[in-house]
Amino acid sequence: SAAEKDGHDWFMRKEIFEQPRAVADSLLGRRTADGLLQLDEMRLSDDDIREVDKIIIIACGTSFYAGMVAKYAIEHWTRTPVEVELASEFRYRDPILDYSTLVVAISQSGETADTLQAIRHARTQRSKVLAICNTNGSTIPRESDAVIYTHAGPEIGVASTKGFLTQLVACYLLALYVAQVKGTRYGDEITEIIHQLEEMPDHIATVLESAETVYELARTHLNTKSVLFLGRHAGYPVALEGALKLKELAYIHAEGFAAGELKHGPIALIEEGLPVLCVVPPQGRDQLHEKMISGIQEVRARGARTICLAEEGDTSIEPYADVLIRLPRVPVLLQPLVAIVPLQLFACELATAMGHDVDQPRNLAKSVTVE
Ligand code: G6P
Repeated sequence: SAAEKDGHDWFMRKEIFEQPRAVADSLLGRRTADGLLQLDEMRLSDDDIREVDKIIIIACGTSFYAGMVAKYAIEHWTRTPVEVELASEFRYRDPILDYSTLVVAISQSGETADTLQAIRHARTQRSKVLAICNTNGSTIPRESDAVIYTHAGPEIGVASTKGFLTQLVACYLLALYVAQVKGTRYGDEITEIIHQLEEMPDHIATVLESAETVYELARTHLNTKSVLFLGRHAGYPVALEGALKLKELAYIHAEGFAAGELKHGPIALIEEGLPVLCVVPPQGRDQLHEKMISGIQEVRARGARTICLAEEGDTSIEPYADVLIRLPRVPVLLQPLVAIVPLQLFACELATAMGHDVDQPRNLAKSVTVE
């Protein structure tokens, strides 16, 4: 009923709008009285964590893209090498695992069969397993050594939205926790990043205020056959997740690419009028921003219609954006928390305008309990 959906037409839309709250809830209660980070169910000692010399993140679907973002944050803040792998591929390649490997399983439901089988395999190799999960007491956290629960609340829509944002939060917290224990970052710096995280709910709310603009844009794409998404650095997984949302909900062919790979193939796909959604990194950091802009120029010169997500105050993008969607100014590693929101709104509105059921897209299940 409409009441269950908080006045929204679909659970998915309700869940997109719950994201500021879900992110805030997932940050609550993470600090001890003396200001140190703590995790919910940490059955690993500080010595166990100090012993970790490699982290392997395993997940499926949207959770996998959260894992890709996590790699950037964990490696940057902790200097611990991270691999990210699809759960369904993990066991079958005979992965190198031992007691000094921390396997991180990300699963909204905690019941995804591929992810569960992957952690079971990791445990037979004596690896430590940490779960990031939204469902209390589900199988994956029960079979793990440590758990960070996300506090998104129940997610009904089959396509994950608030689940994804809260997974990102948990990944940042894990990264900061490992940095704290290993001492790879000063306490002040960790505190500063937590403050920045605490500002994210307001930033997400700001993005949601311009939902109507994104909806109007989406409704001009009813006859679109294909959409490309480009990103770099932490914006690359955002591009992949934006494309996944469009496939899942609108059944439109969509692909995400790392913008730097354009010249190695994807640019051949560009033709007159092809919509290309571009996640522009924040300005002024190791040329990432400049290089993204030059990629956008390249596709536009070949006829693409560029729809750019760029931070407030970024004027250099203006000449190359056919459509410009503004994002709040946030650090590059945290940008996925705001950048994915317009892409969720875009896919949700386009799909509903096409007459599709966004809560239960065809052929998909909320939780895939068969391998
Ligand atoms: C299904 C859902 C996706 C989800 C994926 C992984 O495919 O439709 O939205 O991302 O499973 O689910 P999990 O519960 O393990 O995060």
